[in-house]
Amino acid sequence: MRWIKVKDYEELSEKAAEILMKQLESKPDSVIGLATGGTPIGMYRQLVSRFKREEISFARVTAFNLDEYIGLGKEQPESFYSYMEHHFFGHVDIPVASRHIPDGMAENLEGACEAYESSIEASGGIDLQVVGIGQNGHIGFNEPGTSFQSRTHVTELSASTRRANAKYFDVKEMPEQAITMGLQTIMKARSIVLLAYGHEKRDALAQLRTGKITGSFPASCLHEHPNVTVLYGEESEGEG
Ligand code: GLP
Repeated sequence: MRWIKVKDYEELSEKAAEILMKQLESKPDSVIGLATGGTPIGMYRQLVSRFKREEISFARVTAFNLDEYIGLGKEQPESFYSYMEHHFFGHVDIPVASRHIPDGMAENLEGACEAYESSIEASGGIDLQVVGIGQNGHIGFNEPGTSFQSRTHVTELSASTRRANAKYFDVKEMPEQAITMGLQTIMKARSIVLLAYGHEKRDALAQLRTGKITGSFPASCLHEHPNVTVLYGEESEGEG
């Protein structure tokens, strides 16, 4: 696991965007795994402006998002579908057919999970997966206790995750479940970048740094992966 400390949020976003750009330079038809949440917003902003300056094209990219809330339709602003449209997909040239987000409105959720796993496999597997980290160590929506062997599945959101994400919702409407890539799905990616920024992530990062691998801290599975970069930083004055 390679740890890279940044001085501020801008640098985190630039470095994350550079890692993605390097991946696309070496393999323009890369399969990339994408994350949502507050942390990667700056990275998407960087990628969109580089696309607008014609420094990069995503035309041959296939994208798979980590997760989606169950019960939120595409048109709902809090869905990860809307997030991706707003922050990234709506501004770049990834073909619509090559953008994948789990379907939180599927009638057959189990079937949707299976289909998601199959389409990742059919694409040749994820070359570079971006993940954030929850305060309780979740990656994607793999909450503490999730099996390291898990594939894309339906999960109950923990109280801690619901509290952390409540800021994006009218509290009564905060979903209780989500579809998420499993820990094994994430671990199958050929490389992984974990983004963490701000004081809320300090304890989770300290736990990750211990190197202890335990099911009660899902991100710790990443210690068993040969190619993980952790980009992290704390707020500088005036931020956050
Ligand atoms: C969310 C998402 C994760 C994300 C994490 C941290 O619930 N499911 O994919 O990485 O929590 O989010 P944030 O970057 O807003 O702290």
